[in-house]
Amino acid sequence: MKVVALTSDKGGMGKSTAAINLACAATEAGLETAILDLDPQASVGRWARLRKKAGLPPRPFAEVCVPIDVEDRLGELKDAGAQLVLLDTAGRDNNAITTAIGAADLVLIPCHPTDLELSTLGPTLARLRADNKRHFVLLIDWSAGASRRRGDATTAIERAGGRVAPAIYTHRADYRVAIEQGQGVTEFQPHQAASIEIRKVWRWLRVEIGMPDIAALAAAGRE
Ligand SMILES: Nc1ncnc2c1ncn2[C@@H]1O[C@H](COP(=O)(O)OP(=O)(O)OP(=O)(O)O)[C@@H](O)[C@H]1O
Ligand SMILES: [Mg+2]
Repeated sequence: MKVVALTSDKGGMGKSTAAINLACAATEAGLETAILDLDPQASVGRWARLRKKAGLPPRPFAEVCVPIDVEDRLGELKDAGAQLVLLDTAGRDNNAITTAIGAADLVLIPCHPTDLELSTLGPTLARLRADNKRHFVLLIDWSAGASRRRGDATTAIERAGGRVAPAIYTHRADYRVAIEQGQGVTEFQPHQAASIEIRKVWRWLRVEIGMPDIAALAAAGRE
């Protein structure tokens, strides 16, 4: 079982959106996936309730969890067959962030390429380096074509000692609307641009965390 944490020291950078959509993409790809929501505001917990009310499948599994219970819940999820757990945290909640970083195999930090958000990354990256924790900034841009802006942001992040995920992830209304309906974009608009790009981000992440390509294995088994 692999654990991926979403953290940032600033709020509202896109952690819950990324956690939900990556969990749905991983579920679609055949992995038993769970999200533990360590944020007292419980955005993912609320999404899970919306999902239940709408009669949508209980996968990915999602629940609210206090930091002190994370280790136990991870053990229970592993015993229950979970292959991937995403930990969503609150910006500024030091206890939850420390717990999530400690438990994670890899940390993702969503960030828009704006001075306002980039300027908050220094302490986050310094802490992850001090903890010797593998981490990537997941740049969320407004346009996939804005390669110059992403290039400048990547240079700034690398100067601060961070690495940027190579998969392109953008700001699209579909991400927001899907969540409002208790879905991920891959369920809400499976053939639209947001789904195509989040699947690419998932495939990149899958390789980074060393998870198997379940669909390819199943296809090979059928040959
Ligand atoms: N890729 C995206 N496309 C469109 N909207 C997005 C995207 N990512 C995040 N948002 C929007 O930005 C806002 C903040 O996102 P989100 O709640 O995921 O951030 P967060 O880091 O989890 O915030 P908090 O620190 O408060 O938990 C939300 O309104 C969300 O709909
Ligand atoms: Mg959140």
